[in-house]
Amino acid sequence: MTQSPGQGNALDNLLTESRTFPPSEEFAAQANAQPALYEEAKADREAFWAKQAERLHWETKWDQVLDWSGAPFAKWFVGGKLNVAYNCVDRHVESGHGDQVAIHWEGEPGDSRAITYAELQREVSKAANALTSLGIGAEDRVAIYMPMVPEAIFAMLACARVGAMHSVVFGGFSAEALRTRIEDSSCRLVITTDGQYRRGNPAPLKPAVDEAVAGAPSVEKVIVVKRTDTEVAWTDKDVWWHELVDSQSDQHTPEAFDSEHPLFILYTSGTTGKPKGILHTSGGYLTQASYTHNHVFDLKPDTDVYWCTADIGWVTGHSYIVYGPLSNRVTQVVYEGTPNTPNEGRHWDIVQKYGVSIYYTAPTLIRTFMKWGADIPAKYDLSSLRVLGSVGEPINPEAWIWYRENIGGGKAPIVDTWWQTETGAIMISPLPGVVSTKPGSAQRPLPGIGAKVVNDEGVEVPHGGGGYLVLDEPWPSMLRGIWGDEERYRDTYWSRFSDQGFYFAGDGAKYDNDGDIWLLGRVDDVMNVSGHRISTTEVESALVSHPTVAEAAVVGASDETTGQGIVAFVILRGGAGADAGGADAIKALRDHVAKEIGPIAKPRQIMVVPELPKTRSGKIMRRLLRDVAENRTVGDVTTLADSSVMDLISAGLQSGK
Ligand code: WTA
Repeated sequence: MTQSPGQGNALDNLLTESRTFPPSEEFAAQANAQPALYEEAKADREAFWAKQAERLHWETKWDQVLDWSGAPFAKWFVGGKLNVAYNCVDRHVESGHGDQVAIHWEGEPGDSRAITYAELQREVSKAANALTSLGIGAEDRVAIYMPMVPEAIFAMLACARVGAMHSVVFGGFSAEALRTRIEDSSCRLVITTDGQYRRGNPAPLKPAVDEAVAGAPSVEKVIVVKRTDTEVAWTDKDVWWHELVDSQSDQHTPEAFDSEHPLFILYTSGTTGKPKGILHTSGGYLTQASYTHNHVFDLKPDTDVYWCTADIGWVTGHSYIVYGPLSNRVTQVVYEGTPNTPNEGRHWDIVQKYGVSIYYTAPTLIRTFMKWGADIPAKYDLSSLRVLGSVGEPINPEAWIWYRENIGGGKAPIVDTWWQTETGAIMISPLPGVVSTKPGSAQRPLPGIGAKVVNDEGVEVPHGGGGYLVLDEPWPSMLRGIWGDEERYRDTYWSRFSDQGFYFAGDGAKYDNDGDIWLLGRVDDVMNVSGHRISTTEVESALVSHPTVAEAAVVGASDETTGQGIVAFVILRGGAGADAGGADAIKALRDHVAKEIGPIAKPRQIMVVPELPKTRSGKIMRRLLRDVAENRTVGDVTTLADSSVMDLISAGLQSGK
């Protein structure tokens, strides 16, 4: 169900924010992006994208920029051939940059490793040979379930190199979540580690793989990287990375694949319980990842040190740690661990140590830093920072200003980048050096991108008006579908505004009086918790799979640090009331959700209720539950089948307190 945009979210303060920060003359003079780009792209979009595609090395040039005849399935750079890994690695070695550090890897316990492009080429080649030796080739699916170790990046690039598709599953997901993802795309191989460092301690990872693989017959082999050196159980499918990969030749000739050759699947939450396998292909994806990374972050490959704090388990890690940056010959920091290990200054210590100049993170982390206090970053030399980025959820003006003042020295431009797993790369963002930034607004579609705010009828709203965000032109890095479910692809994104042919993003948005776009959060049943997408239905199914739960309804309630927090309302079996929901019972339910999905999906709060508010057609009215979760007066109850239910819930909660 769609709510009206902006409803029930606490972002109204965004709309009264009116400060602007024009770029400095020095920054503008050296910026990669120029104001003329907007006009250039508008004059001839396809010619503009063709020019961006020239950033890459094509083994065979395309004959057609865009084929949209099979809409909503796009083909970009039709007839072109390229190897994505070659573009991210080899060509930089061939152009004489083999000695440039590609990755400054920083382990959580303090171990580190500098990997040059020449070394990256050897590592990726060995891993590619290892994949071939296992019979993994074009279009095979490989699940990667790893912490932030260099081998995770080698593995992704090795897949790309041999034309296999990776499906990276965030290391914080449970065995069950991993199993369903492996199964959905019939992965033949899983790459993992024995364990991972988390908050100063080694934590096992392989047991989850063992459990998942036991229920996933498509898996033939499991490659295990030794990271924590913890004791692991061993099966005949398992092989150590250091035994298999290290003995391979470090020479490998990449093969060029079609521009539309599949590159990866990445699962993301939708409005139903089953995660969607978002499919991305090669040429268009890499073109846009590369173009946006260069222009939005103003990357200067010879001098910048870039750091994106995302995990490779999310799309930000795919596009802005692996493909965009490496295609641009970045020197970047990759950090394994948590931001407060061994102390709350860890990120700033890393910035100072490596002279990080571009830093890209999420609002939830910025708000956490705020909570820890400005005196922590103040202890470090952060003067190297010259561009700051934000992604994952709307950034509140207060956090934006704090970020600018305390991290960016009051001068580094902040790029608030709006995009999605589905869009593959950044779509809406100010261009640093060109656009005067506004705290809290992602502002305008990048040159080459079409985005609009429209009303229920699909008509663009006037300046000052609010509605739904749509994308009105196909773009190179757009998803090419949902794995194995063409209907769901059409339905989810293209049916809402089918008359106009708009892509429905699922976000509410508003224009300010200058026509800049302000994102207002999701308008569907997807929650955004610390920048992670989690569907209400997914958590509800996890809860009702517990033997004590009869029914469950989940809402995202606004949360000062995490953006939204998960609040669950459950009816226990046998009509047990609030008194049955003792602390132990609640804990058991929270743990059960962690086991079914992963710790990130644990409800912040679980309330035991006697009834749930439903419409006459039986649909749960989450809007009313959100009112309860956010301590607001409960809104209009007239469409409820039984309007006394809300009184019952409120009374029950009070007596349960
Ligand atoms: C939200 C993450 C406001 C939005 C790259 C979107 C944002 C969802 C922003 C996609 C932003 C992401 N401002 N909201 N700058 N960036 N979002 O697929 O609701 O994990 O639909 O991709 O995050 O999340 P996903």
